[in-house]
Amino acid sequence: MAFLLARLGTAVLLLAIMAQTTSGVQRENFKKCENSSFCRRCRKVEPGKTPYELLPDTLSHKESTLHIELYNKVTGVYYRLELTALKNDLFRLYINEKSPLHPRYEVEYALKDHPQTTVLQLVEKTSTHITVKNGKNKAILHVNPFKVDFYVGNQLVISTNDRGFMRFEHLRTKPPAKPDQPQQVEENAENAEKPAEPAADQPDAPQFPGDGAEDDPGAWEENYKSHHDEKPLGPEAVAMDFSFPGAEQAYGIPEHADSFALKSTKQTDPYRLYNLDVFEYEINEKMSLYGAIPVLYAHGKETTSGIYWNNAAETWVDITSSADNDFVKSLVNMVSGTVKKPQVDAHIMSESGVIDVFILLGPTPMDVFKQFASLTGTANLPPIFSLGYHQSRWNYNDEEDVNQVATNFDKYDIPMDVMWLDIEYTDGKRYFTWDKLKFPHPLEMVKNLTEKGRKLVVIIDPHIKRASDYFLHNDATDNGYYVKSRDGKDYEGWCWPGSSSYLDFFDPKVREYYSGLYDISKFEGTTNDVHIWNDMNEPSVFNGPEITMPKDLVHYGNWEHRDVHNIYGLVYTMSTYEALFKRSGGALRPFVLTRAFFAGSQRFAAVWTGDNMAEWEHLRISYPMCLSLAISGISFCGADVGGFFKNPDAELLTRWYQAGAWLPFFRQHAHIDTKRREPWTYNDDLLNNARDTLRLRYSYLPYWYTLFREHEVNGTPVIRPIWAHYPTEISAFTIDDQILVGDAILVRSIYQPAVSEVSVYFPGEGKVAWYDIETYKMYLGKQIDSVSVTIHRIPVFQREGTIVPRKMRIRRSTVAMRNDPYTLVVIADGEGRAQGNLYIDDESSFEYRHGKYLYLRIKLDGKKLTSTFLENLATYDTKSSLERVDIVNPPKDIKKAVLHSKAMGNVDLETKYNPHNNVLTVRKPTVKMGEEWIIDLIA
Ligand code: NOJ
Repeated sequence: MAFLLARLGTAVLLLAIMAQTTSGVQRENFKKCENSSFCRRCRKVEPGKTPYELLPDTLSHKESTLHIELYNKVTGVYYRLELTALKNDLFRLYINEKSPLHPRYEVEYALKDHPQTTVLQLVEKTSTHITVKNGKNKAILHVNPFKVDFYVGNQLVISTNDRGFMRFEHLRTKPPAKPDQPQQVEENAENAEKPAEPAADQPDAPQFPGDGAEDDPGAWEENYKSHHDEKPLGPEAVAMDFSFPGAEQAYGIPEHADSFALKSTKQTDPYRLYNLDVFEYEINEKMSLYGAIPVLYAHGKETTSGIYWNNAAETWVDITSSADNDFVKSLVNMVSGTVKKPQVDAHIMSESGVIDVFILLGPTPMDVFKQFASLTGTANLPPIFSLGYHQSRWNYNDEEDVNQVATNFDKYDIPMDVMWLDIEYTDGKRYFTWDKLKFPHPLEMVKNLTEKGRKLVVIIDPHIKRASDYFLHNDATDNGYYVKSRDGKDYEGWCWPGSSSYLDFFDPKVREYYSGLYDISKFEGTTNDVHIWNDMNEPSVFNGPEITMPKDLVHYGNWEHRDVHNIYGLVYTMSTYEALFKRSGGALRPFVLTRAFFAGSQRFAAVWTGDNMAEWEHLRISYPMCLSLAISGISFCGADVGGFFKNPDAELLTRWYQAGAWLPFFRQHAHIDTKRREPWTYNDDLLNNARDTLRLRYSYLPYWYTLFREHEVNGTPVIRPIWAHYPTEISAFTIDDQILVGDAILVRSIYQPAVSEVSVYFPGEGKVAWYDIETYKMYLGKQIDSVSVTIHRIPVFQREGTIVPRKMRIRRSTVAMRNDPYTLVVIADGEGRAQGNLYIDDESSFEYRHGKYLYLRIKLDGKKLTSTFLENLATYDTKSSLERVDIVNPPKDIKKAVLHSKAMGNVDLETKYNPHNNVLTVRKPTVKMGEEWIIDLIA
């Protein structure tokens, strides 16, 4: 009976979660800081009273690293501190207990390799401080009170523990419960006056009381709603403060449905980083979402810096800034004429693990992004189909439905590369199987798609149906592949299939087994053209605390889920990526989409912003959310076009297509209860506008593809905030409804109905001109200008001085366009100059890793346009040629053009000048892109 009731309860919960009728996020399902013992404990620390001091006598120094002990005067606990100099202007600061009672978890998988070290020079050691240098940068470690200051040259850019918020809760044995007395260990500052050796090897010895952790009732066990967390290791939080003098704004720490520039948390909860499946999430919220990347940037007019907090446990981040100063203070400053330097302050608090923080010293925005990329890696060049348009919904009902939708894209002459199947394609939510009634011939369905150059993506979630007729469940049970409860049994939770267990991807054996499942011989109905969508991988557990796994579950290596929660999704997608890589024998580039992520996820998957809503505000937030991801390593980001929940009206959907076409990942997706919303399901206007938008996207694919290659090689984000290239323009620091695509294209999204005019910020301090990509109308100088718009398109501009490669013959898919010729859009600056890059390869295989590609620099210098190889050893036999060059602001009175190339010799070309938009067109050079060439413009 009890069992039945429990089942019934879970089913009701499940229905509630799936129900469409509830509206808005159910806040009470998710903790606030006050509901979390460690957050309360860390947030309570008072400024200016740090108990930590360095012990200079313990200093040792070897090549790249300085080792020294740190001592807590109140608790008597010793720590070891390491400061390492890394290449690319980075420091790594590591603090752990000298003799922890048990090992503390140190994050795996997030960093790409071991960060490359360099020489750390010990410059000075006194009784009060120690100075070390890493090239032109230096760090000063202050002995007592302990803090570390980081300098670029002589400019202080980051201080740690300046405010004294460091907290490192040592592991301890549980104090015996005293009858009638709360479990509590009293502060014992006197006892701890002088350092005493730690007694960790004697588990029964007193465990350094005094940090007040036990004063909090949740220190040794915690309840939230009906969930109990056993907390066998007790309090073990780590926290640190960071100050960024000179910074105006802070950015990063995704994922939050909030503005790109972080807001002050002085009057609110901190930003939370804890991967969660938040049903019907709301915007302007600091609540957690599906992914977490603990990288924080601080930017001011003079410098940009950042920190990467390498910790996978639940984390909260407080942000305050000098702008929080009260009115009276600012008035006093104003009257006294003191201009106070701006400053941003952060306080980062994690539930467990160690302090392992990377200091990114910039000094430019692009430098910090590259520094983060040097740690966590970049996305492998995606197969070009994945930059095309994706058509998804939960669900396409059957094979006929899939064929019909794909055929309609041809009928209406709209490009589309990928059809998607959500969970209903499976046999009762058993992943790696098919519903035999609705999808009896998947291979035929895939063939229908691939014959037209298209692909299929199917969903695979990490929860495994506990059904005795399911091979995967049986294999996992027999081999012990599931995540375990504390009693050693397979953990059982509730998700789409009902009762489910979860593969423990931290176990290499599980990953090995799992990657075999994708083999074409094993996953019937799939081919190398079927790619993968990983969803629900926070992981989502409908009946778990905060809709996820209990923290006291046990993973491979005996680590608690608490320690690794935020990297479960990362390790899962890593396995999927490796599986797809293996599937083709390493020949083809995999495509994986993930909902949960952590630092480093870019190496394995693209990310979308989850279950948004068909509301204008949700369209608005897609740009800040993807910008935040892009600067945190994940460029390949998009939002469900049209909004996942609810039905968009035609105007909202039109605007969403238009905005989505300028985000890297471009997919329409919708909830199972929504109406059909493929482009032809509304009206002719929507159909025509959607068609034009998708065709526009395809015409710019050569540019997107080049940017992704440059991201892979250099770590440059594909989309960027304005301040990435205009770091001194303060008014751009909070703009997040505009993005730069590369450095040449500026996009302004439209997220309000009935708009006929919008204001656009044109960066460049009046010295740079921007041209509308359709009319070539020029915008200059005023910075904020008003731009008229119609429903036909959103404002998009190309900067003067740039050359953007395009393909203008739009076909049904990217495969069909592979050999098509290129058009170059050249916008000459005031000096008659422009330049741009173009990357070309086979668009799908890893052959480019063996030098089979072309990387071209195209340059206009007065009357000479040239294409030269940027990398001489690389070569690719492209069939594509140059079809047309449009030069905006051309040199005056050009009569003709002459092409010079090895293969073609000297050829006269036809030109045409259009005085209305000041564009000179050079027609049909037809030279192959695989050779270097010159075009002379002749007056
Ligand atoms: C949740 C995902 O966010 C959504 O995109 C998907 O359609 C449903 N799961 C069903 O798989």
